[in-house]
This record gives sequence, structure tokens and C-alpha cells, in this order.
Amino acid sequence: MPAQHNKTEDDITAEVLQRFAETPDPRLRQIMLGLVKHLHAFVKEVELTEAEWFQAIEILTEAGRMCSDKRQEFILFSDTLGVSMVVDLISHRKPDGATESTVFGPFHRLGAPELPAGGNIAHLDKTGTPTLVSGRVLDLDGQPIAGALLDVWQAQSNGLYDSQDANLNGLHMRGKFRTDTGGRFLVRTVRPVHYPIPSDGPVGRMLRATGRHPWRPAHIHFVVSADGYEPVTTHIFDRTDEYLSSDAVFAVKDSLICDFARHENPTDEAARLGMVPPFLTTDFDFHLKPATKQRTTVLDAQQRLAALGAAG
Ligand code: BEZ
Ligand code: FE
Repeated sequence: MPAQHNKTEDDITAEVLQRFAETPDPRLRQIMLGLVKHLHAFVKEVELTEAEWFQAIEILTEAGRMCSDKRQEFILFSDTLGVSMVVDLISHRKPDGATESTVFGPFHRLGAPELPAGGNIAHLDKTGTPTLVSGRVLDLDGQPIAGALLDVWQAQSNGLYDSQDANLNGLHMRGKFRTDTGGRFLVRTVRPVHYPIPSDGPVGRMLRATGRHPWRPAHIHFVVSADGYEPVTTHIFDRTDEYLSSDAVFAVKDSLICDFARHENPTDEAARLGMVPPFLTTDFDFHLKPATKQRTTVLDAQQRLAALGAAG
């Protein structure tokens, strides 16, 4: 058929789809065809102008420039557009008794120290309420998993992650903990607080321009892994937080909401760790499902992202 040069908008879409139709890898073909179909439909639906198209290019350029080993503006876009949670729900569909996952977020850092049970991840935080997070890592039958690894991170009581705090240059509020033979773990920290996601870049401008607030409800992050089990990337949330119903990144799941109990008197465990009242405790059990297939874990991906950011 002779090449057609006077094209309509739909002719362009059809031609682009045809150009990708012979992609050898079937999954890549499916993704590229879906991407082109929906991207073109979006541009046509909103009748994107040239000026808006340029603005989008500027926004993406600025987002790329902001990324480093400490800052990931593209994850932030994905999170605030709800894409991360849709991907999460697609990837972890079955309600099979395993602990539910939620967003990874942009603030995980590699290299957190391995700490003993009861180790304090908040040793530099002098304003937060001391808190003990205890629990077990169990399989789907409720049997303890010994030697499971919990990679834990959290914002300080000033609402900043270490990487955002100009007064810090090392790691803080991060630790790795191993479960004992009973599957138990114990993390000493401070009460999590709600905090605004970073608003000094294009994502912040998007939130302001659309009348959205940037707040995340108080939470503690975990990646829990063990040999032979599927790792889970998740948070625990504070039941009393005012932003539980309007999380800026849509990441709250009912099963992850915890009660933090306040203690005005010492307990044996707290005294052993040198904690004086008032302090808080919460208890949460993680349930892991057996590994089905070898997959890239979120931490493998994080390693590659951090390396890219550090090289930039
Ligand atoms: C976080 O919880 O660290 C986070 C998650 C998504 C976007 C921004 C921050
Ligand atoms: Fe967080």
C-alpha cells in the first residue's frame, strides 16, 4: 500500500500501533500497544495544546534533574497519582492471610545498620515519644519464622527523614532487625508523626495547583523478608492519625492500622532497655506467604535506582 501522507489524528495512532505490532517479546508488545493506545486517547480527549505539551516536557525534565540517591521525584509522581497503589493491588491480589503490602515510597536508603532486638533507631531524636514496636514474623499457618529480616525506616519526630534534614549527614531512623527462634522482633523508636511529602518540586506544584494537601498519616515502614518467602513492603499506621482517610499517596489499608498504647508506669522490657515512662507500645505480627517464583524485589530495584541517582 502506498504511504499515506495526509493523516488524521487517528491515522497517526493506527500507524504508531502498527509500528510496534511486531515487537518480538509478547509482554513488551502488550505494554507498548496499551501505552500508545491510552496515551493517544488521553491527548485527544483533553485536546492537549502545544504549550501544555511543552510544560509537561519541562516538568519531566525538572523531575529527572531532582532525582539523586536521596530523592526520587518520579516515585513521588507515581505515588501521588495513585499509580503505585494500583500496581501494588494488581501485584498482591489475593487476600490469602498474608500481610498486605503498601507503597515503598522514595525514602528508603540502603545500608541501614543491623541492630540487636530492642535496638534504638531513633537515638538522635530527643523530642519524640519513646515507643517499642514488637511482634512476630509468621507463616500462613501461624508458625514462627526464625531469622527473618525486617528493614525498618521512619521519619523523625520533626517530620523529616534523615535525607531531608540539613542537620544530619548520616543514616538515622533506620535499622535492620532479625527475628529470634520464636519469630519475635523488637524495635525501639519514637512515635511516628504525620508529615508532608516533599513539596519543593514539580509534585508539590501539582498538589498546590489542584488543591490537594501533601500529608501522610503517621506510619513506620517495613520490608520483611525471609528465605523461601515472598518479601512484603509495607507500613504500620497509627489509628489515631487525622490523615488516615486522606493519605496524599492513597496507601492506607485497614489491616495495617495499629493501636499505640501509652504507659505511665515502667514495664520490665522497657526498664531493661533503659526507657522511662511515659512511653508507647504497639504489637504487630507480619504473615509471609511462601515464595512462588523468583522475582525482582523492591530492594533490588532500589539498589539500581540509588546507583542511577548517585551517578547523576
Ligand atoms: C513515605 O512514606 O516515605 C512516602 C511515600 C510516598 C511518597 C512520599 C513519602
Ligand atoms: Fe514514610
